[in-house]
Formats: sequence, structure tokens, C-alpha cells
Amino acid sequence: MSKKIFSGVQPTGNLHLGNYLGAIKNFVELNNDSQNNCIFCVVDLHAITIKQDPIELRDNIRETVATFIACGIDPKKSIIFNQSTVAAHSEAAWLLSCVAKIGWLNRMTQFKEKAGKDKEKASIGLYSYPILMAADILLYDSTHVPVGEDQKQHLELCRDIAQKFNNDYEVEDFLKAPEPLIQKEFSRIMSLKDGTKKMSKSEVSDLSRINLTDDKDVIINKIKKAKTDSLPLPSSASELSERFEAKNLLGIYSSLTNSSLEKSIKEFDGKNFSKFKEKLSQVLVEKINPISLEIKKLINDKKFLDRILIDGYEKANKIANLKVKKMHEIMGF
Ligand code: AMP
Ligand code: TRP
Repeated sequence: MSKKIFSGVQPTGNLHLGNYLGAIKNFVELNNDSQNNCIFCVVDLHAITIKQDPIELRDNIRETVATFIACGIDPKKSIIFNQSTVAAHSEAAWLLSCVAKIGWLNRMTQFKEKAGKDKEKASIGLYSYPILMAADILLYDSTHVPVGEDQKQHLELCRDIAQKFNNDYEVEDFLKAPEPLIQKEFSRIMSLKDGTKKMSKSEVSDLSRINLTDDKDVIINKIKKAKTDSLPLPSSASELSERFEAKNLLGIYSSLTNSSLEKSIKEFDGKNFSKFKEKLSQVLVEKINPISLEIKKLINDKKFLDRILIDGYEKANKIANLKVKKMHEIMGF
């Protein structure tokens, strides 16, 4: 059966290895399967839940599109568009916010993490952000949503909202509850400086992540400086339970080489980190350097990138408008 794939990435700059291995790599595989209908959205309305500089935001939107293409998404096969251009997203988010319950949103751990200690100062958008995400997904009758592990809870909320809408308005199966597509292994890439923290765009230290725009020397240097421990590499996965940094680096290596953690452990069993880091840098450079060069090339071709977004807008807008109109009818407007 053909799958309807939808996913979104925020245009907040510094797209990194975690975004690639956790999400974008999977987008490319789904895009390459001709059975699928894929939509990849640059979610700028999500980005502004935390204040953005307008000029940087505009550049970051184009850079996100350039990154999608550089990683291998084909705009002829998949729809690539910018969330704010399709008004139905904001509209459906409001309609769904009248269905979702405060109690459900109060459980969202990402809000707690992002809002930090002073929740009163966070924007209302940051709080209601998962409802907008549900609108994104439900407008397109999406069946599958590829994301990193951190988005799992938001997808469960999306399913709850769909079900409650259908129940409240007695429209069985009108909103389709989507399935998450989360990598079984290595779905959460951790910081290079602290193996207990997620690799993130917003982390102050650039040494904590490999950006998809990093060049060869930067990558080698970041891996050289990546935190490790003083033991040699382990001979079994069970030895990794408290060795967060070693586990993360071995996970990155395994994911990049499409091999299992067990196999990578066998390959480096008992070796010291400098040998392993050399090999890791090599596979990282092989994978990331071509992407980085392509992003830098594409980013200068604004016309090409804007054309992709206009084409994407036209296609997405049609689908989303039909669905939001039906929502209006169902809700009594
Ligand atoms: P964002 O940049 O927050 O819009 O995230 C885009 C996609 O990358 C989402 O599917 C996230 O779940 C995924 N992602 C972000 N950071 C990581 C990470 N450190 N490890 C794995 N996946 C991630
Ligand atoms: N919330 C997601 C993130 O921060 C991005 C996102 C927005 C998304 N809308 C979506 C992901 C719809 C999947 C489907 O990473």
C-alpha cells in the first residue's frame, strides 16, 4: 500500500548530524521508494515559538531547502514547501486547539525542557506547538511520520487529537491517526561534549555537534576534541551502559556505515580511542563533506530554491485547503 509521508524540520540554522541520522537520512530513503507520496515541510511557524531574527530566518528557510536537496531529496518526487505559505496550517491549528485538552499539553516534556525554569516567560506558541504539528500532519491524511525519538510524544498527542476530533464530531476516520517512523537504533544522537545530552542546534558550543555545513578539517577537529573516557573500547554492548560518550560515538559510526552496534564493537574491541576516532572521522568526512559542499553551492542559487518552494506551495495548498474546508463543514461553519 502506498504510504503518505509527512515530516517537518525547523529552519533554525545549524542542521546537524542528529537531524541527518535521526530524520533526514530516513526522508531520503522514503523519497526514493516510488510507492510513497512524501511531503517535507520547512516549519517556520514552529521556529518562531522562540524569537527569530527575521533576516536570519529567511536565510535559514532557504538553507533548510538546500540541505534537503543536498542530502538527496528529489523535489520532483517529493513536495517540499514552507509551512507559513499554506494558511490552512494556522487555521487547522486553531480548530484543533479547541479539541485538544490542556491536560494533554501539560504532559509534553519538550515544552518543559525548552521553557526551562521560568515557564511563565515562554511564549504561548511554544506551549501549543504540538497542536500546530498535529495540524501539519492531519491536513494531508499522512499515514507515516519519520522523526527522531524526541518527537514521539508529540506524535502520540497528534493521534489523540485525531481520535477526539473524530469522536466529538462523529466522523469516523476523518482525521487519520498517523504511525511514527522512528529509527530502531541510533534514533537519538547525543552531544559530542556530553553523552547524556541530545545533539542540538541551540547548544552554545559548536564543538558539541557536527553541522551539515562543516568542512573536512572542522569535522576532524571536532572528533579529535569529542569527549571520551580513559578505558579502551569495549568488547560487548553491556559494557556501554555507563559509558555514554563511547556508546554515542560507536552509534554514530554504526549508523553511518549501516552496520549494527555489535559489529562496530567487534571491529574496535580493545583498541584505544585515537584509532577509532581516526576511522570515525574518515567515514564522517566521506558522508558529510559532499553534503556540505552541495549546500554551499545551492545556497547561492536563491531562484532555484524559491522555485522549489513555490511549486511545493501550490501542491500542498490544494490538499490542505480541501481538508480544512471539510473541517469547517463538519464543525458547523
Ligand atoms: P528540528 O531541528 O528540531 O526541527 O528536528 C528535525 C528532526 O531531526 C526531527 O525529526 C527531530 O526528531 C530530529 N532530531 C533533532 N535532533 C536530533 C538528535 N540529536 N538525534 C536524533 N534526531 C534528532
Ligand atoms: N516538531 C518537529 C521538531 O521540532 C518539527 C515538526 C513540525 C514536525 N511539524 C511536524 C515533524 C510534522 C513531523 C511532522 O523536530
